[in-house]
Amino acid sequence: MEDQATRLRKLVERKISGGAGGLQKETAQGGTSMPLPGGARVIAVTSGKGGVGKTNLTVNLAIALGKKGKRVIIVDADLGTANVDVLLGTSSRNTLLSLARENVQLEDVLIRGPYGVSYISGGSGMEHAGELTVMQRQMIFSKLSACDEWADIILVDTGAGVGRNVLDFIMASDEVLLVITPEPTALTDGYAVLKSYRQLEATQPIRLVVNRVYDMVESTETASKLICTAERFLHMELKSLGFVFDDASMMKAVRRQVPLLAAYPDSLAAKCVEALANSLLSGRPQRVKLGWQGFLRKFFHNMH
Ligand SMILES: Nc1ncnc2c1ncn2[C@@H]1O[C@H](COP(=O)(O)OP(=O)(O)O)[C@@H](O)[C@H]1O
Ligand SMILES: [Mg+2]
Repeated sequence: MEDQATRLRKLVERKISGGAGGLQKETAQGGTSMPLPGGARVIAVTSGKGGVGKTNLTVNLAIALGKKGKRVIIVDADLGTANVDVLLGTSSRNTLLSLARENVQLEDVLIRGPYGVSYISGGSGMEHAGELTVMQRQMIFSKLSACDEWADIILVDTGAGVGRNVLDFIMASDEVLLVITPEPTALTDGYAVLKSYRQLEATQPIRLVVNRVYDMVESTETASKLICTAERFLHMELKSLGFVFDDASMMKAVRRQVPLLAAYPDSLAAKCVEALANSLLSGRPQRVKLGWQGFLRKFFHNMH
């Protein structure tokens, strides 16, 4: 496992030192949103368990970042349930794994999807990704490295857990967004993921997104539980990027196969995603203007 991760890391390091011309890459800590030549910011979106909202967050973040003028590519690397195209209501013929074939190039698999979202589909058959030879994997990764020219930000939807394929993508990324929910199981699974990063000596900044919270207090409490535990037992420094409200609009959007930001741009969850995008670009804490919807939600919640 470590060997694999190390190989991928080296490959990516070579790409960075070759492509970015010695310039420092954009990081959240740096707080700059200036795109640097040949240096897309690669952000893995992951979680300890499935169904916490990674794919919805990835797709909607891509739309929000796109609205702010960023060129974003999603790599759907969820080997078990690749479903970025399902959320977008599209499908694609070529997939990430097609890149293992010599005659298939990046532009054959890079889909210019609806809502301004460009993505590379995981597609079906991704469960066989583990069977790829090292040569094939390297071919995929080196072709993917050309995404740098097409994007300022690359969001990698990695799938859940600590399987080899998930960790490979995480170790190869610049930054990690770990999606959790306030459920105790999501928290313990999130902790298990962090433990694996620790074992692999991951050095990327890891930030939490607490999805499906009822209010900001719940978000802060959930995030600080994991932040404190990681600090105490794993000596890892975690930061919180922000939160997304539990919002029925999300479910409705999924059913319609239209991303939340397109279907319900004024919903509370959509506002949270926009704020997350701001925070991702500025490095400053997420500030959500809740407006009338938020007022009503708080008001009626406080009544009982
Ligand atoms: N903020 C939210 N509010 C309400 N429901 C949500 C929210 N985020 C996700 N969901 C629900 O969770 C389901 C799973 O989300 P998805 O993004 O596919 O998770 P993952 O990619 O982590 O498996 C969605 O279909 C949606 O119904
Ligand atoms: Mg998913």
